[in-house]
Amino acid sequence: MHTNNAVELWRLTRAYGARDSRVVALDEVTAGFPAGSFTAVMGPSGSGKSTLLHCAAGLDRPTSGRVVVAGTEVGTLSEKRLTRMRRDRIGFVFQAFNLVSALSAEQNVGLPLRLARRRPDPAAVRAVLAAVGLRGRERHRPAELSGGQQQRVAIARALITRPEVLFADEPTGALDSASSRTVLELLRGLAGTDGPAPRTVVMVTHDPLAASYADRVLFLADGRLAGEMAAPTPERVAARLAGLETAPAGAR
Ligand SMILES: Nc1ncnc2c1ncn2[C@@H]1O[C@H](COP(=O)(O)OP(=O)(O)OP(=O)(O)O)[C@@H](O)[C@H]1O
Ligand SMILES: [Mg+2]
Repeated sequence: MHTNNAVELWRLTRAYGARDSRVVALDEVTAGFPAGSFTAVMGPSGSGKSTLLHCAAGLDRPTSGRVVVAGTEVGTLSEKRLTRMRRDRIGFVFQAFNLVSALSAEQNVGLPLRLARRRPDPAAVRAVLAAVGLRGRERHRPAELSGGQQQRVAIARALITRPEVLFADEPTGALDSASSRTVLELLRGLAGTDGPAPRTVVMVTHDPLAASYADRVLFLADGRLAGEMAAPTPERVAARLAGLETAPAGAR
């Protein structure tokens, strides 16, 4: 595969359960994510989007196949090295923000460093909060912030370790359209090759408008790759998605 890919999936397969209850969530998915690109992953509910993201980010282990992130094979890393990889080189943003409610924005952002027994640099924490548009909100707790602001704290927390790849699973799923727009513009601006190192963003979304912020959309259906679209527009994405949701399995 192309060496300029920040993430490579090679025949990635993830099955859950055994025998009668076996579910193949991902079935031999091969895909590359170029360094600096912004990719949206779409598909019907249960098509394997979260499974793909979790395997790619080292939050879940493939049943077979390979996952390479920033040149490192993550599928087979020891638990210890995987933890370090997730901490230092991979960022993950969840639909539900997952902030610690008792901590301020700046304490939440510094948390990944504290967990790694490193002392967060207050200036770096302030800078990353400013970069996501939250200057002046450093001391606010999650309950004192809007949903969009909370998600931006979560993005700042994912960025504090300067990861090469940022994964986001439906980051706008819990947001209204105005907050979604600020978060999507932020993600759009984070992807790219300016700055010291390219940053690659991979986002799962159900929303064709959200997907249109990406350079490219990958479609999944029944755990398999079901096509891709460059320069997506909301209309074209919605039309393709409607086709995936109505087509019978096997006829895609
Ligand atoms: N831990 C698990 N144990 C058993 N089955 C699972 C597990 N995680 C996911 N699955 C199954 O794998 C398939 C893909 O799930 P996944 O969560 O990746 O779908 P998704 O595309 O993210 O769906 P949604 O859009 O609803 O979030 C589903 O059939 C799901 O039930
Ligand atoms: Mg999901």
